[in-house]
Amino acid sequence: MKIRLLLLSLGFALTVSSSLRAEDPKPAPGAKAEKPETELEKTMSKMNKAWRPVRKAAKEGKLTPADAALVATVRQGAEEASKLTPALEAEKPAAEQAKFQADYQAQLKKLIATLTKLEAALTANDIPAATKLVGDAGAVIKGGHKEFKKPDENEHH
Ligand code: HEM
Repeated sequence: MKIRLLLLSLGFALTVSSSLRAEDPKPAPGAKAEKPETELEKTMSKMNKAWRPVRKAAKEGKLTPADAALVATVRQGAEEASKLTPALEAEKPAAEQAKFQADYQAQLKKLIATLTKLEAALTANDIPAATKLVGDAGAVIKGGHKEFKKPDENEHH
């Protein structure tokens, strides 16, 4: 009886550890654990790192002219992103891909225009205008992700 219990728990432990291992492929050094990143994901991650503190400062009423530098980093990322192609594009029929890419670039252009205004508002210390523009940029980002990001990658946002 005791032996059977021991064997049973041993079998259970082995099953758990092997199933854990199966879901734990070795990530490339520096990559996110879940999957290898596309060029666009890397660019978006850089933008996210600069954008997150801007959003937080806006939410807490703590924007300052110094935040213009972070916004410039996000804007430069958006410029890089417009030279890249969303992964979703490959899943579109060939005849629709050029329009998809043009629409994607137009959305980034909207973002760049909003960020340019945001930089100017911050530099001018017009914090109420800057706060509103952070919200406007948020809507452009949300729309961009809804339209151009693969649905299975939307769970972060
Ligand atoms: C401040 C602006 C933005 C931020 C902070 C941001 C942030 C992010 C983040 C964190 C990811 C996930 C990256 C990962 O999985 O590692 C992502 C992915 C993505 N974003 Fe953005 N995003 C921004 C603007 C936009 C805009 C305006 C568009 C569309 C015009 C867009 C299109 C995409 C696409 C297509 C992906 C999936 C990557 C791929 O297809 O390879 N993003 N973004």
